[in-house]
Amino acid sequence: MNPALIVALDVPTLKEMEDALNRLPETIEWYKVGLEIFCAEGPAVLEPLKRRNKKIFLDLKLHDIPQTVANAVKTAASHGVNLLTVHAIGGRAMLEAAAKAARECDNPPKIVAVTTLTSLGQDDFQDLGIERTISEQALALGELAISSGIDGLVTSAHEAGALRERFPEALLVTPGIRMPDGDVGDQKRVATPAFAVQQGSTHLVVGRPIMQANDPSAVTAAILADIKTAL
Ligand code: C5P
Repeated sequence: MNPALIVALDVPTLKEMEDALNRLPETIEWYKVGLEIFCAEGPAVLEPLKRRNKKIFLDLKLHDIPQTVANAVKTAASHGVNLLTVHAIGGRAMLEAAAKAARECDNPPKIVAVTTLTSLGQDDFQDLGIERTISEQALALGELAISSGIDGLVTSAHEAGALRERFPEALLVTPGIRMPDGDVGDQKRVATPAFAVQQGSTHLVVGRPIMQANDPSAVTAAILADIKTAL
């Protein structure tokens, strides 16, 4: 499977999303829709993507009781979503219910799990009563998710290598991608597209470097070319 570039549509309204889609190049096949715009506009936000035959990564990070998550997975799948996130911390029963619900759909979405939010630090772990280190927790929850039937994990490029070794078949979805000369912004652990692919990432999530580019087609082409150098 060739690695996929996913552009994060981090905009607040449907109008801004349509404007972005009109501005961005056809070569982008995947888009990520997150909580902000989904809460603002609901599933209608997926329609412009479906009209353009784009693949949809719905990043809602589901975390609830198993039945509720299973129902949300089925509903999302019915809207034509291809990739969906859950929180691994929801536990085995929730993860198994999500995986089973996806498998039962006519067009099964792939489910990937977030192990630990990158906004959390070791101090937060103490507040939460978690005694593992952050990387131990990521590996342990990765194990839990994959052994529960989840298709993959969300990971930085820097942890992708270890996860790829441990989980040879897993999808690895990686944000924090920047070209070597790119503006890092608020991202702390960035990596180039080629590095992420070399580490085993299968899906690269890019937001601002493309969304805020003066020439999004040129940036997209540069990212796709960088991915190719790693194949
Ligand atoms: O603009 P940028 O390329 O930094 O955006 C990356 C996208 O990936 C954003 O939608 C952001 O919320 C998401 N993300 C991230 N880091 C994580 C998890 C998700 O940047 N650890």
